Amino acid sequence: QGGEAVGWKVQESVTEKVEKFTESISFDKVLYKQDIMGSKAHATMLAHQGLITDGDRDIILREDVHMNIEAALTDLIGDPSKKLHTARSRNDQVATDFRLWCRDAIDTILVKIKHLQTALLHLALNNQALILPGYTHLQRAQPVLLPHVLLTYVEQLERDAGRYVYCRERLNFCPLGACALAGTGLPIDRFMTATALGFTQPMRNSIDAVSDRDFVLEFLYANSNTAIHLSRLGEEWVLWASEEFGFMTPSDSVSTGSSIMPQKKNPDPMELVRGKSARVIGDLVTVLTLCKGLPLAYNRDFQEDKEPMFDSTKTIMGMVDVAAEFAHNVTFNQDRIKKILFVLGSQGMPFRSSHDVVGKLVGVCVSRGCELQNLSLEEMKKLSPVFEEDVFGFLGVGNSVNKFSSYGSTGSNCVAEQLGYWVNKLKIT
Ligand code: ARG
Repeated sequence: QGGEAVGWKVQESVTEKVEKFTESISFDKVLYKQDIMGSKAHATMLAHQGLITDGDRDIILREDVHMNIEAALTDLIGDPSKKLHTARSRNDQVATDFRLWCRDAIDTILVKIKHLQTALLHLALNNQALILPGYTHLQRAQPVLLPHVLLTYVEQLERDAGRYVYCRERLNFCPLGACALAGTGLPIDRFMTATALGFTQPMRNSIDAVSDRDFVLEFLYANSNTAIHLSRLGEEWVLWASEEFGFMTPSDSVSTGSSIMPQKKNPDPMELVRGKSARVIGDLVTVLTLCKGLPLAYNRDFQEDKEPMFDSTKTIMGMVDVAAEFAHNVTFNQDRIKKILFVLGSQGMPFRSSHDVVGKLVGVCVSRGCELQNLSLEEMKKLSPVFEEDVFGFLGVGNSVNKFSSYGSTGSNCVAEQLGYWVNKLKIT
């Protein structure tokens, strides 16, 4: 970062305070692989176009340094390194590096999401017949199959994955060769570097190439949406693991105890999955705010997009991984769930009778401490003549669940269909 030639005079170095405040190497180093990739493609193209000699290119390419800061390269190979910056600016360079980095990160996240979906699917397959209360307003509403509930999250994650795929497609255009903002008069071949780096094609507009950060925002949004889904899963499982619900017990390997309350098993990982979603949302808001007032084209402000992106991505990867780990290490408490369903069985009769009649029947059940199915047909007929022998086929949670038969519903045939779809899609054997 020594003096830089500006017009006719040699600029003095900045003060130490300014240097410290504006530096980015402390976090840009994350981009080193992508930076080297970009430089190699660029050097190859420059030689192809006769802008540097083949000899210089070979020396540059051979030096696969792990810090492609030009200074380091200069120390290593001297003069040819300077020619690498022919027809290139840090503005198009950093935009290229960052797109390459995002592309790799998305590919990793997609694999992780699939692992989590698979973990949830296994949990569903291992508890296929388990009936749970389903809730609205956090009030017990209707009995549903556990796999039905778990596949809800699998569906959400599939849409999350789709968002990453679209984001990847849209960001996969190459800024390299846009230089500072206006392009260059040198006969470079932007299509050659774009292809070498696996981009669809060069970005059409050089000003757009160095000033666009919506790929960062889209990625951060994809992370945020995933984070919200995981946070809701976290919340649900924290509730389920509570003594009040008692639906699930996490194994010791994914929970913490308390030194003074030995009966406790705290689901910390899922609490933190919920908690860390805050950072991911914060990172999105940071970059939204960063971009809101920026004129074209490059502004140094853009340097502030890296740390939120790195933080958001590291966080979401951890969240997805830990949710999968947790899913592999929980068991469901059938007895406890049955007790709760007993109550639901006396409340949730999905029957064509009027609300009013059912309400009265439930009143009888509550006073007697029994389920609807324990009432006799005569008792029911007293309240309404619509009741016939077939009413018993509707009562009890098992019957009740299986009365649901519409597409996507909780009836066991419908859920089996959904399970089949995901087993096939996620290639579970
Ligand atoms: N660290 C800078 C960034 O991330 C690199 C680009 C610097 N360009 C410049 N004209 N000062 O944006």
